[in-house]
Amino acid sequence: MYHVPALMTEAVEALQVRPSGVYVDATFGGGGHARAILARLGEGGRLFAFDQDEQAEANAQQAPFAGHAGFQFIRANFRHLKRHLRAWGVLPGSVDGILADLGVSSHQLDTAERGFSFRFDGPLDMRMNPGEERTAADWLNDSPEAALQDLFSRYGEVRNARTLARACVQFRQSAPFRTTGDLVQVCDQALQGLRGADRARYLAQVFQALRIAVNDELGALEDFLRDATEMLRLSGRLVVISYHSLEDRIVKNWLKAGNASGTPESDFYGNLRRPFEVVTRKPIEPNEAEIQQNPRARSAKLRIGEKRESELPGQSIG
Ligand SMILES: C[S@@+](CC[C@H](N)C(=O)[O-])C[C@H]1O[C@@H](n2cnc3c(N)ncnc32)[C@H](O)[C@@H]1O
Repeated sequence: MYHVPALMTEAVEALQVRPSGVYVDATFGGGGHARAILARLGEGGRLFAFDQDEQAEANAQQAPFAGHAGFQFIRANFRHLKRHLRAWGVLPGSVDGILADLGVSSHQLDTAERGFSFRFDGPLDMRMNPGEERTAADWLNDSPEAALQDLFSRYGEVRNARTLARACVQFRQSAPFRTTGDLVQVCDQALQGLRGADRARYLAQVFQALRIAVNDELGALEDFLRDATEMLRLSGRLVVISYHSLEDRIVKNWLKAGNASGTPESDFYGNLRRPFEVVTRKPIEPNEAEIQQNPRARSAKLRIGEKRESELPGQSIG
């Protein structure tokens, strides 16, 4: 199985698909969510699906996607959503619903050669788009110690980020990082005796931190949210599933204030900018049954926003 989609029913229902509407799945992956959206579309309905991974593109060339008149796959980073949609004749303010199911697919995680997981020995790569220049090994071999420390602590909330960064620099003085095993070895030294689930959690945090840096995941998310806000029509829906607190905070802030930090912004007249009506005050999470069936869904958080006029007269801050 390429990937089991998380929060499938909740995410697709949140889009409130109209048969003749225009929808975007920004993270096609194995096409699980896309398949359910497509099944709800009728004549005139359109689904544009993005993914930067070539394996995902191969999935889009299978039934029911291949040859479907309403379906278009776009192999691109979703941070360029607006540019690509415009090239396909989709104008800002005209999209009915946009879904993003962030992070990596199970297929990416479970393919040793992609280097995403500490559970398999493989090249230390982690690029979702293999056309990008810098691999995870490049980051570890070229970054100054302080930058590595910052990366581990900011993106992985790794508690001994300083020790780990120093251990990385010591390691590369004798040989460059090449494999996931190299990084696991350095982590094991920096861990000082952590075992079992604690060790696995630590390794997951370190690998996650590197993956976020290699793919500029937070920068891409912010660009995506900006473009998605512009592309949606009034009352169109933005539906985002995130898998860690850094992403979720950005999505939550964006829905609340139209920016990644959540800082209230006002226009020239002092009107508060609130581009979305927040549909989910609290994020929707998978229930026990889903987590049992699909343990990788356990950290999923789904948030929904409904596009509204960007400035509301009479709502001033302060
Ligand atoms: C969690 S999977 C999506 C699974 C999908 N919803 C399904 O039902 O199979 C995330 C996918 O998003 C893609 N992805 C992540 N960040 C991306 C980005 N910035 N631009 C384009 N694709 C991205 C990954 O390559 C991966 O295939």
